[in-house]
Amino acid sequence: MDKLLITGGRPLEGTVPISGAKNAALPIMAATLLASGVHTLRNVPRLRDTRTFARVLELLGAKVAFDGNVCTIDSTGVNSVEAPYELVKTMRASIYVLAPLLARFGAARVSLPGGCAWGPRPVNLHLSGLQAMGAALDIEHGYIVGRDVKLIGGRFGFDVVSVGATAQLMMAAVLAQGTTVLENVAVEPDVTALGDALVACGARIEGLGSRNLTIHGVATLKPIDATIIPDRIEAATFAAAAAMTGGRLRLERVVPAHFEAVLRKLEEAGSTVERAPDAVTVTGPSRPRAVNVVTQPFPGFPTDMQAQMIAVCALASGTSLIEDTVYLDRFTHVPELARMGASIELRGNVAVVRGVDRLYGAPVMATDLRASASLVLAGLAANGDTLIDRIYHLDRGYETLEKKLGAVGARIERIS
Ligand code: EPZ
Repeated sequence: MDKLLITGGRPLEGTVPISGAKNAALPIMAATLLASGVHTLRNVPRLRDTRTFARVLELLGAKVAFDGNVCTIDSTGVNSVEAPYELVKTMRASIYVLAPLLARFGAARVSLPGGCAWGPRPVNLHLSGLQAMGAALDIEHGYIVGRDVKLIGGRFGFDVVSVGATAQLMMAAVLAQGTTVLENVAVEPDVTALGDALVACGARIEGLGSRNLTIHGVATLKPIDATIIPDRIEAATFAAAAAMTGGRLRLERVVPAHFEAVLRKLEEAGSTVERAPDAVTVTGPSRPRAVNVVTQPFPGFPTDMQAQMIAVCALASGTSLIEDTVYLDRFTHVPELARMGASIELRGNVAVVRGVDRLYGAPVMATDLRASASLVLAGLAANGDTLIDRIYHLDRGYETLEKKLGAVGARIERIS
C-alpha cells in the first residue's frame, strides 16, 4: 500500500494549477445516463473516484474513455440498471445513477451506500424525494429497487440542505412529466454546475443558484458537452498549505468566490490574500492566529475544509474553536494530528484546538479523503519526517498531489 513521506519545515513558493472538481464531475458523469448518445466532459480530474464512476457506467453498458482530462461517455448502449454493492461501497456517490436510471428506463437496482469513516450518512432525502415524484421504491437485500417507475413532477422541501439529494432530484425532474418545485436546495457550485450542464443539453430549470428550483420536465435531452468547474476544495487545501508553512502560493484556474469563506478565515488567521478573476495568491504569516470556525452549507465554511483548518489552527497562537454542523462526528484526523504533537480536545462536534509552537513528524494513518489532506498539511509544517499510510484516500480526491506540492518546494515522495 502506497505511503507518502514528507520532510517538513519548508515554506511553499510558486504556482499551482488547480484541477477540475471531483464533486461536480461525479453528478455530471451520472447525468450522461439521462440521454442516449456520446457525451463530452472536459477538465475531468483523473482520480480514483472518477475512475470508479467510469466503472459503474461501464457496468451499466456505457463506453467510457479518458484522453487526458477529457472524458467521453457513450451512453447509447446502456443495457443494465444495476449498480452493485462492490462498487457503491467504495464510493457513496455511485448512488447518483439512481434517478437517471429511473428517469430513462423506469427501473433501477442500486446498492444502498452504507456508512462511512465518520458515521452514518443516510440517503433518506434521496428516497423520499423520489417517492414524492411517484417512484415506488423498495429496499431489497441492501438494494434500492424501482420497477415500472414513471416520474411525475411534484413539490419537495428538504428538511436538511443536501448536496447529493438536490442533485439526485434535479436529475429526476428534468425528464419527469410536468413541473417539479424543489425547496431549500443546496447551492454548492457543484450543484449549480450540474444544473448548467443539464440546461445546456435542453433541460428547463429556473432558479439555479437560489434555494428554490422550478424544473419543467422535457421529453428528451441532447448529449452533454461540459467543462468541469475548478475544484474549490483542492484550491482551499493549497491555500491552507501556504498559510501553514508561511509560504506564498499562486493558485491558478480557480473561481475565488467558490471558496471565499475559507479565504476570509485564512485572512482572519493572518494570511494575505490577493484575488484575481481566475487566480488567488495566498501569503502565509510567520505564525497563524487562532480563529473560530463553524461549518455550514455553501456559501458558508465547507465541512470539507474542517480537517485542514484544524491543522492550520494546531500551529496558531491561541485557542481556536472548530465546530462542524454538517457532520457532527467528522474528526477521525484528530488522534492522528495529536500523534504529531497537536493539542486538540473534542467536545461533541466542536474541536478545541490549543495552538502549539511546533508539530513533529511521525508515522500516521489516513482515514478518509479530507482527514488525509490535513495530515499532509501538518507534515509539510512539522519538524522532521511524517510517513502517511493508506494514502489511497488522498488519491480519491486530489490529482497528482505530491507532484503539485513538489513543484512548489515541498520535500515529498510516494513510497510503494
Ligand atoms: C457531498 O456529500 C460531498 N460529496 C461531500 O464531500 C461533502 O462533505 C458534502 O456534500 C457536504 O458538503 C460529493 O459531492 C460527492 P449532503 P453528500 O447530502 O451529498 C444529511 C468530499 O470530501 N443528509 O450534502 O453525501 C447528511 O447526513 C466529500 O469530497 C441526510 O440526513 O452530503 C449531512 O449531515 C465528503 N439525508 C447533510 O445532510 C440525506 O438523504 C449534508 O449531506 C442526505 C443527507
